[in-house]
Amino acid sequence: MTDAWTGVILAAGKGARMKSRIPKALHELCGAPMLSHVAAAIRNAGVRQLVVVADPVTAESPQLASAAGNGARIVVQSEPLGTADALLSAQMACEKSGSVLVGAADMPLVTSSSVRRLLAEHRSSGALVTVLTARVDSPDGMGRIRRNSSGRPVAIVEEAEADGETLDISEVNTSWYCFASDWLWDSLGRTQFSDNGERYLTDLLEMAAREGTAAAVEVEEPAEAMGVNDRSQLAVVEGLMRDRIRTRWMQAGVTLRDPAATYIDIDAVPGPDSVIYPGTHVLGKTRIGRECRIGPNSWLKDCVVGDGAKVISSHCEDASIGANTSVGPSSRLRPGAKLGDGVYVGNFVEIKNSVVRTGSHIGHFSYVGDAEVGRDVNIGAGTVTCNYDGANKHKTIIGDGAFIGSGAMLVAPVKIGRGARTGAGAVVTKDVPAGELVVGVPARKIDSKSPAGEK
Ligand code: UD1
Ligand code: CA
Repeated sequence: MTDAWTGVILAAGKGARMKSRIPKALHELCGAPMLSHVAAAIRNAGVRQLVVVADPVTAESPQLASAAGNGARIVVQSEPLGTADALLSAQMACEKSGSVLVGAADMPLVTSSSVRRLLAEHRSSGALVTVLTARVDSPDGMGRIRRNSSGRPVAIVEEAEADGETLDISEVNTSWYCFASDWLWDSLGRTQFSDNGERYLTDLLEMAAREGTAAAVEVEEPAEAMGVNDRSQLAVVEGLMRDRIRTRWMQAGVTLRDPAATYIDIDAVPGPDSVIYPGTHVLGKTRIGRECRIGPNSWLKDCVVGDGAKVISSHCEDASIGANTSVGPSSRLRPGAKLGDGVYVGNFVEIKNSVVRTGSHIGHFSYVGDAEVGRDVNIGAGTVTCNYDGANKHKTIIGDGAFIGSGAMLVAPVKIGRGARTGAGAVVTKDVPAGELVVGVPARKIDSKSPAGEK
């Protein structure tokens, strides 16, 4: 049945109260634009056809297309003449639909299960309009739902037009609705412009109540009715969404030592029996395995973390961290850092665009960039891969079992062979063959079995 439905998201309008260069629908909440949360609620409720109404400039932006998701159609509202006018812009794109679901892009807390209830109520009541409502403690700024003596909804009254008695009504309009399609397009054309030059979608409820029936169904949680008109509301709505995400992961078996001080983005996935300590941000599409210890004060964006790993007070982006690997405190993994299993990265280490294989140690104060570090390598304190000659970046390759003494400068491009060793303070400018020991500045081969180094 839902195939005959189209979901329309109203994402045009001025959004003036945001005081922003960024269109309101593209402001982020928990790592994703507001619009994409609304699109997800519609898709997860089973409605496949999606139309997004945007202003002429935003309609062209790749960010809008990506937030709307695959297969969504973008239509233009040429001037911000109100919510009824916005929906009219979607008429052509809804031609084949018997019913139309409408959601406002600035109401991102409405859940797919509330949307499902709205669809179900609309199907069973046979109403011309079904509105999703909420009973809230502070209805300020929202349209109030007026019901008749038998409890049927008969009008939505905007705050500017409400009398004292109407203002006391605690049931409000969420700006999510279902409409019978044929009636909708005809009625939208009949809405009147109000004094401020806009025409209101909310007028349709009164028209439906006169011409047939109007129905209403409540959201599951009143908090779903919190919308975003300004930055303060953006912060409140993001806080509520964060809370939901944290609850979901705690129910899935993740320990959050201090939930209020833990930030998990909507698309991030922490694994069961992992413990996340305060001050930690798990962002983007980060995936964390089982039984990991993350934090305190770690920041991970778009990372993959294997089972049993630890990331303590560290900053990691676009990096992968193998099983049972330990990072930090106070280290930084930059994009392309790939650590194998059982790797140890201690304090004040920066790793960029480098592979570090199983069992290797980089304990203290080192920079590893554009490098391949083999298995069971020990990199002593203060080692630097000198990867940049002022014009180009070069690679450092370190073979399995090599031992790099403290304070070594590895001047790339350079290869350290398997099991080779470098003395403390060596400046290595030439390749070192497997098993050999080099020392000094510039580093030369010597015959000694005991390199100066630290572990
Ligand atoms: C609207 C409702 C109000 C409801 C509230 C819930 C109307 C007249 N009022 O008020 O009853 O309680 O939402 O949040 O509908 N938009 C367009 N084009 C326009 C104007 C708006 O696409 O010309 C879009 C906006 O991007 C927004 C949505 O429609 O996503 C609602 O517009 P907004 O101006 O925020 O309406 P509210 O004053 O919040
Ligand atoms: Ca609004």
